[in-house]
Amino acid sequence: MDKVTLACPCLFGVESLVADEIKALGYNDVETQNGRVIFHADESAIARANIWLRCAERVLIMLGEFEAHSFEDLFQGVKAIPWEKWIGRDDAFPVKGWSLNSKLHSVPDCQAIIKKAIVEHLKEKYHVTWFKETGAKFQIQFSILKDKVSIYIDTSGEGLHKRGYRRNSIEAPLKETLAASMVKIARFYADRAFCDPMCGSGTILIEAALIGRNIAPGLNRSFAAENFHLDKSIWKDAREEASAAINSEPIEVFGYDIDQKAVELTLENAKKAGVGDVITASRQDLRDFAPTQEHGTVVTNPPYGERLLDIKAAEEIYKTMGSVFLKLKGWRFYIISPSENFESLFGKRADKKRKLYNGMIKCEFFQYFRR
Ligand SMILES: C[S@@+](CC[C@H](N)C(=O)[O-])C[C@H]1O[C@@H](n2cnc3c(N)ncnc32)[C@H](O)[C@@H]1O
Repeated sequence: MDKVTLACPCLFGVESLVADEIKALGYNDVETQNGRVIFHADESAIARANIWLRCAERVLIMLGEFEAHSFEDLFQGVKAIPWEKWIGRDDAFPVKGWSLNSKLHSVPDCQAIIKKAIVEHLKEKYHVTWFKETGAKFQIQFSILKDKVSIYIDTSGEGLHKRGYRRNSIEAPLKETLAASMVKIARFYADRAFCDPMCGSGTILIEAALIGRNIAPGLNRSFAAENFHLDKSIWKDAREEASAAINSEPIEVFGYDIDQKAVELTLENAKKAGVGDVITASRQDLRDFAPTQEHGTVVTNPPYGERLLDIKAAEEIYKTMGSVFLKLKGWRFYIISPSENFESLFGKRADKKRKLYNGMIKCEFFQYFRR
């Protein structure tokens, strides 16, 4: 099977988690960069990475990287890529991308140049003058950072956070890839209870249950590269491998929310995700959090508050968390929040903090594990 270079963009702060996931799939040639992880593997990794990666946003085939200080540099760099290896005579190849701190800063112009360069290359290969673009879609992506151009084909289609279980949502749901990253940082132990006492639509609980049961997050969705001209067996094999890897270990994953609608949504989403038998949820105020299990892990995404009044309410919740959580000696707590006053309101300095971005909101992941 041919070798490919794959690039997996991810949220800032979770690169090492993505690298670990890739290594766990058996790929060792892994390079961690800011906001992306790159690895080299055979083509079957396109299917395995899409199906298995929990913390990455997408899987891209990296076709070229070069410096470009002019449109001519960009045109020649793109034209030199062996496009016919991927794109057939009838296939569609739309182009999108971004440019930052570079001489070539006009994205529409770069887009047009890249498209023209691909067309010129394929014209020479296929001896045609017009491309119908009615076949499979190959989304070309480019990035230009400090004059360095990267050219990719997207293999995922919809972002990997779209696991297919969350059709309904409450306000401020956490992205599935971020929820999975938080659970990975906190570590899931089959012999410890796992709880989110402010579970909203249940994203953290569902990601934890998927991890606990070793269910690949992409097992039940499709990917753009399934229409590529690749051996179809790579998808069948990867799905069979993922199905066989699911365990049925008894695990305890439960949640609460003050809002009954959120509780119902959690249960509905858990069912859709195939972990309805694992997750329990009920209506409860955080103030009444008193788990009966001696040992457990809490991972939670409390309300942040945006307006002044809401900020005050959010701060009250941080205080309540401190007073109820810190009494529970066998439990560990992991809380994401953008508040600079979080630790003083919670009443204890975190054992460890890690910067994570919840969308555009810069947060800290406060970790309390020395108990
Ligand atoms: C930011 S949302 C959590 C979103 C969730 N991580 C998700 O992905 O859907 C915060 C949740 O805390 C709940 N909440 C607020 N105050 C609470 C309290 N005192 N006790 C329990 N839940 C509370 C809200 O109803 C809301 O669903």
